[in-house]
Amino acid sequence: MSLATDIINALSLLFHGEWHEFIFRLRVHTLNIDLKNTYLDELNLPEERCHYYANSGGPHLDKVLRDLKINPLDAIVDFGSGKGGALITFSRYPFSKISGVELSPELVAIAEENFKKLNIGTITMTISDAADFTNLDEYNYFYFFSPFPAAVMSAVIRNVCSSLTNSPRKATIIYFNPEYHDAVVTDSPFVKTNEFNHHELRYYIYSNRTS
Ligand SMILES: C[S@@+](CC[C@H](N)C(=O)[O-])C[C@H]1O[C@@H](n2cnc3c(N)ncnc32)[C@H](O)[C@@H]1O
Repeated sequence: MSLATDIINALSLLFHGEWHEFIFRLRVHTLNIDLKNTYLDELNLPEERCHYYANSGGPHLDKVLRDLKINPLDAIVDFGSGKGGALITFSRYPFSKISGVELSPELVAIAEENFKKLNIGTITMTISDAADFTNLDEYNYFYFFSPFPAAVMSAVIRNVCSSLTNSPRKATIIYFNPEYHDAVVTDSPFVKTNEFNHHELRYYIYSNRTS
């Protein structure tokens, strides 16, 4: 993106009163945090299992998390965590554990560099296909932002459901841009309990029936 486009975008944010977004972008810029989109051909990732990298951290995610009233008994995993943008936002909340699972080692290295620049030392990262990450019993929050195609989404939701069967607990899914809503609710204890909309951005919140 050119400097002129950056300036126009910044002026537009100020014009629309989006101060939080403006300050967030300024911080990312001055600390040289890399959250730029990265496409599958640059990462050598297979199209049939992956979507490209884009960041969802920042003020819109903040609004959702504030509403959820996170407490120190909560632990969250971001499936397809990329360069760590959403994880950086989670780190401002009192989660006892924050984890990211990401298929691309290059993106994990960038995420770790970003955390270092921001002095965040509490996030654990695993390089893995999300469908192979089955160590889920310690988490009660599961985050997705358009990470992968429907088949992988279904496999991950099956793993979450197995974990809830093995270790029954209340759990919440936060799904930003919920294009595979059906994969979350089909044959699963999850029901949609809330929805947040900001312009064309959409977050669905799901909870499991625990009775
Ligand atoms: C849209 S980005 C979301 C990034 C991050 N969760 C956020 O919200 O800022 C999707 C990420 O999922 C990763 N990904 C795609 N397919 C994956 C898979 N099968 N297993 C693990 N990660 C995957 C991509 O490499 C990319 O970094």
